[in-house]
Amino acid sequence: MSGDLSLRCRFAQAVVREAGQNAAEKFRRRSELKFESKGKQDFVSEADKACEEFVVGSLLKAFPEDSFLGEEGGMQNAGGKAIWVIDPIDGTSNFIAGFPNWCVSLGLVIEGRAVAGVIYNPITEELYSAEIGCGAMLNGRVIKVSNTKNIDAARIGLGFSYRRPVDEHVVAVKACLDAGCEYVRFGSGALGMAHAADGRLDGYYEAHINAWDVAAGIVIHREAGGWTNDFLGKPDALETGNVILATTADLRPALSSLLLSRT
Ligand code: IPD
Ligand code: CA
Repeated sequence: MSGDLSLRCRFAQAVVREAGQNAAEKFRRRSELKFESKGKQDFVSEADKACEEFVVGSLLKAFPEDSFLGEEGGMQNAGGKAIWVIDPIDGTSNFIAGFPNWCVSLGLVIEGRAVAGVIYNPITEELYSAEIGCGAMLNGRVIKVSNTKNIDAARIGLGFSYRRPVDEHVVAVKACLDAGCEYVRFGSGALGMAHAADGRLDGYYEAHINAWDVAAGIVIHREAGGWTNDFLGKPDALETGNVILATTADLRPALSSLLLSRT
């Protein structure tokens, strides 16, 4: 599908850019926004639903043979060889509260492999994209993971949700700090992966994350020269999620033993 894949990638970037700009309009008028709770610290707004409908609708028109797995709409048009995995707004809590750290994330999975991804933060106007074998880009410029060599100079993103025990997260934070590794928690797993890919962070870890949060980020991060665990290797990872660790080759041994051995 290489020609088709490039076509899909270009189309996906245009769709995600437009979806993000529409969502940014709603972000600016968020005092009018209706949202509801899906669980502890887990929200969905009208903007999330509208954004997913726009992305799925646009892609379905162009690629009617493809399938779609969205955070809000679940699986649609099942049975396709290519599965688009969509988080219409990753960082919904930030979106609702007025913090600019949120994005639209769209990954493409074919035969169990993440092959393309787009992550767009319309507030900072940063669009990350990657196609397997072609490198990773930020606004059309090649990006690479950091070259931090030592764990006590590293800074990683750590994510958390109430899908996992609080104590497990506290242990992960302590393990990092004890090793001299700084951490940040931005509230968007997709942007955490993107920033690990562009070298602002040295990695990203979360004990459980959903496929729509990381499908795009996995390709972008790997194409930027990074390493991630085999997230999609778990047979039901698309439906039920998995642990994610994304880091550099140099930091992989230290971060794997600090974090993966505890999951
Ligand atoms: C959440 C964010 C958060 C991560 C959670 C996700 P949402 O997604 O990515 O940073 O820690 O695991 O569920 O709800 O903002 O789309
Ligand atoms: Ca979301």
